[in-house]
Amino acid sequence: MQLRNRVALAPMAGLTDVPFRTLAWRFGAGHMVSEMVASKLELWHTQKSQLRREALPCAAPMAVQIAGNDPLVMAETARRLVDEGTTLIDINFGCPAKKVCRKAAGSALLADLDRVAAIVETVAAAVTVPVTVKTRTGLAPDDRLGVAAARVAAQAGARMLVMHGRSRACKFSGAVRFAPVAEARRALSIPVLVNGDIEDAQSAAQALRNSYADGLMIGRGAIGQPWIFQVLAGGEEPSVAQRLHIMCEHLDHMHKFYGLQQGVRIARKHVQAYLRRLNAAALIADFMRLDTAFSQLTWLGALTESTILEQQTLAVTRPLAVNSHSG
Ligand SMILES: Cc1cc2nc3c(=O)[nH]c(=O)nc-3n(C[C@H](O)[C@H](O)[C@H](O)COP(=O)(O)O)c2cc1C
Repeated sequence: MQLRNRVALAPMAGLTDVPFRTLAWRFGAGHMVSEMVASKLELWHTQKSQLRREALPCAAPMAVQIAGNDPLVMAETARRLVDEGTTLIDINFGCPAKKVCRKAAGSALLADLDRVAAIVETVAAAVTVPVTVKTRTGLAPDDRLGVAAARVAAQAGARMLVMHGRSRACKFSGAVRFAPVAEARRALSIPVLVNGDIEDAQSAAQALRNSYADGLMIGRGAIGQPWIFQVLAGGEEPSVAQRLHIMCEHLDHMHKFYGLQQGVRIARKHVQAYLRRLNAAALIADFMRLDTAFSQLTWLGALTESTILEQQTLAVTRPLAVNSHSG
C-alpha cells in the first residue's frame, strides 16, 4: 500500500471527524486515521460509534483506529471493520486518557509488551489489510518502553509506526523528544512517522531532521488551519477571505453531519481555533453565545461580508522541503 504523501493527519477524538477530514484530504493530507473507535461491539450501534466509523468518500486508505486490551476482541473488531470497508487498521498504544488507561488500553499497554505483541499478531492474522500502530516514547520520560513496544509490534506484523515524542506521564506538556523516535527509526525496517507539536514548516523540518523519520503526523497543528498540508507541500497560504469561505463550508458540513444540535456544539471548537489563527480571539466570546445552527451561519456570513478582518496579519507557513529529506 502506498500513501499519497508523507504528511499525515493525526487521529483526534472529537476533532478529526468526517467534516474535518474532508477538508484535510482536499488540502492534501497524505494519510488520515479515524478518531478512536471502541473495540466493544456492544457500543457499535450508538450514534457516536457509527459516525466515527463513517468512511470518507475518495480518501484512501480508509483507516480506522481501535483501542482495547483483549487480542481476540480486537481481532473481531478489526474483522468487522474490514467487512464494513476499512482498508487499514491502526492500533492505539499511545492514549494517556484515564478513561482508556483504566481499562489497561492505549498507553497503559506499554507496561505489558507481551500483550502488545499478542494484540498486533492476533489482529494482523485476522485481517488481510495492513495493521499500523501509534504510540508514545514510554510510560515515563526515560524508560524507552516506546521503542521496545515498537520493536515488538513490528515483529508481530505492524506495517507502520507513529511515535508521539512524549511519554504517557508527560501527557501534552514539555518539549517533544526526537531521540526515541530516531532510535525506533534505526531499529525498524517499517516506515516511522514522527508526531508532536508540528504546526508549521520550521517545526516540521526540525522534527524530520532530528528524528530521521520517514514522515510526519500533524494533530493540533492542523486544527484551525486544515490547509497546512497544502502549505507544507509548497502551495499558497489562503487569504483571509478564503479562510472565511473554508470556515463557512466546514460549519455547514458539521451541522449536516451531526444534526443541528450537536453540530452547533462541535462547531464551537473549530470556529474558535480558526478565529485564533486569524488573530481574532476577541470575537470568540461572541460566537460562543450563539446556540443555533442558523445563528452560527448568519454570524459567520456577516463576518465574511465585513472588513473587520482585512487588516489581520496572518502567520505565513513556508513550504517544507519534504522530498529533500533522505532519512
Ligand atoms: C483532543 C485530542 C484527541 C486525541 N485523540 C486521539 C485518538 O483518538 N487516538 C490517538 O491515537 N491519539 C489521539 N490524540 C493524540 C494525537 O493524535 C497526537 O498524538 C497528539 O495530539 C500529539 O500531536 P500534535 O502535537 O500534533 O497534536 C488526541 C489528541 C488530542 C489533543
